[in-house]
This record gives sequence, C-alpha cells and structure tokens, in this order.
Amino acid sequence: MTAGFDAARYAAFLMASLPGLAAAPAARGRLGCLDAALDAAPREGLGVELGVYRGRSLRHAARRQPWRRFHGFDSLTGFPEDGRPDWHQDFRVAAPPRLPANCTFHAGFFEATLPPFVAAATARIAVLNIDCDIHASAHQGLTALAPLLGAGATLHLDEAVNYDTWLFNEMLALFRFLDAQRLDMRWIARSGRLRDLPETLRFLEAGRYPRWADDLAAGYGRPASGVLVARQAEWPTPPPGLADRLAARTAAHHGRTQRRADCHPEDPAAPPPARPAWRRWLGLR
Ligand SMILES: C[S@@+](CC[C@H](N)C(=O)[O-])C[C@H]1O[C@@H](n2cnc3c(N)ncnc32)[C@H](O)[C@@H]1O
Repeated sequence: MTAGFDAARYAAFLMASLPGLAAAPAARGRLGCLDAALDAAPREGLGVELGVYRGRSLRHAARRQPWRRFHGFDSLTGFPEDGRPDWHQDFRVAAPPRLPANCTFHAGFFEATLPPFVAAATARIAVLNIDCDIHASAHQGLTALAPLLGAGATLHLDEAVNYDTWLFNEMLALFRFLDAQRLDMRWIARSGRLRDLPETLRFLEAGRYPRWADDLAAGYGRPASGVLVARQAEWPTPPPGLADRLAARTAAHHGRTQRRADCHPEDPAAPPPARPAWRRWLGLR
C-alpha cells in the first residue's frame, strides 16, 4: 500500500460512488456543473472557491447568487513548490481579478490563508468550488475547511474524472476528506460520459490512456458536482484484486511524477524516488 491513504478503501469508495456519478444528470460544461452545485446548496451559508486565477468561475457564481457572500482563495503566483511536476501551467497574475461586490479575495497559499479564515468564520460553507488542479492543494483545502463543511453542503470538482491522472488528483483528495469525516457524496451532476475504475485501470495498465482532446471530443468531461451526506454504511469490499491494481498504478504514478509530498505526507522532505531507467534513457523528467 502507498503511504498516505488506503488503496483498498479508496477502491471500495470508487466502486460504491462512481455508479451514482454515472447516473447523475448531465450538465453543460464546467459552468453548468458548477450551477448544479450552486442551485442545490442551502440558501444560507458561504460560497468558497479554491483556485480563482482570473476569476471566471467566481464571477459567474457570485452573479448567479448575489445574496451570498463568496470567498475566493488564490496565491496569485500559481501552484505551490510541491505542485505537480507533470502539470506545469503558469497561473501567475499581476493582481487579484475584478470581482462582484459580494466576493472577498484572499491572496496567498492556502496553508497561510485558510486557517485564519476558518478561525474567523461565523457561518458554514454552503457551496465549495475546488478548482486548484493538484492533489496537494485540494487535499490541503478540504482538510483546512473541514470544520465549516458538513452534510448538505455542495461541492464542485473541476478536475474530478476522465483524464489520465484523475485517480490521483481531486478525486483522491475527496476520498480522503470523506473517509476522515465519515461523509459520503451524493452526485448531482457530471459534465459528460464517465470512465469507471476498471476501465481506467485497464487503460493505465496498457500504458495508453486516451488523449485528452479525443476524450473531450467523445464527451468525457472532467467536472462533477455533489452534495455531502452523512455516511450510512461502510463502502463494500471491492472485487478481488482491484485494490492491488489501484495500489500498483498509484505507486507507478507517484514514481513517474515524483510527487513525494503526496505519496509520503509523513516525510515530504525525503528525496523523490529515482526516475525509471526508461525515462532517463529518453531524457524525460
Ligand atoms: C485552474 S486555475 C483556477 C481557474 C479559475 N477557477 C477560473 O475559472 O478561471 C487554478 C488556480 O489554483 C491556484 N492554486 C493552486 N494551488 C494553490 C494553493 N495551494 N494556494 C493558492 N492557490 C493555489 C493557482 O494559483 C491557479 O490560479
């Protein structure tokens, strides 16, 4: 088992939860999916967005629900140092985006901005938009915001499913949060077709997950939304072998991306695992 989470429990969660996501109503794109989370959220309570960048989704949410106070969190300098080395995107911006009056912007990394926000909050979170792209940030955000999150709150995950590393990103952070809080997710929207766990594992084991552009064209969107609910029962034991296959793919993923802080949160400073020989021969990271 990879340190940091239990692959058998994660496999059990995925097998129990993903059929509900497959059966959830289809929404139009990421903003349609975000709307589902906004519309299903309790009227009272805060809106929070993790990952604001130029403010597109936060402006959209704040205009749709002008009565609600929204809080947006972003470093303005992009990902933290331990961000995904396989996901190099430049999200630096010179200044906070222009936002509607019912928004408060918090500049800085989540580790600095979320604890004082939670300590000072006088209301709970009604709707949370997770759009910070990397597992470390989603996990940090959900962990810090846990005291303000409970059954009835809605979540939108912008990178939930349907890409080559979805098992190791926001979905993994969601599982770790639900597992720790004894909560579950009742899925209310997805933005397209869904590749389930066995299909995803087959692609990864064959070393040929479909290209992102092809998958998007075929209707496999990434976002998903759901409502947090109290967990009524344990997730059933997954079919034999599935947890081991998931653990093996997780180890391979961590070896490939060298996300040391993700796979060894107890010892994030230790040197990353060596690159596999074939990557060194090809001169790849
Ligand atoms: C995909 S962009 C957000 C897009 C935005 N929601 C929109 O609709 O345009 C991801 C953002 O997450 C931010 N981010 C990721 N991890 C972070 C962290 N740990 N602390 C602060 N900001 C973070 C990055 O700076 C980046 O701007």
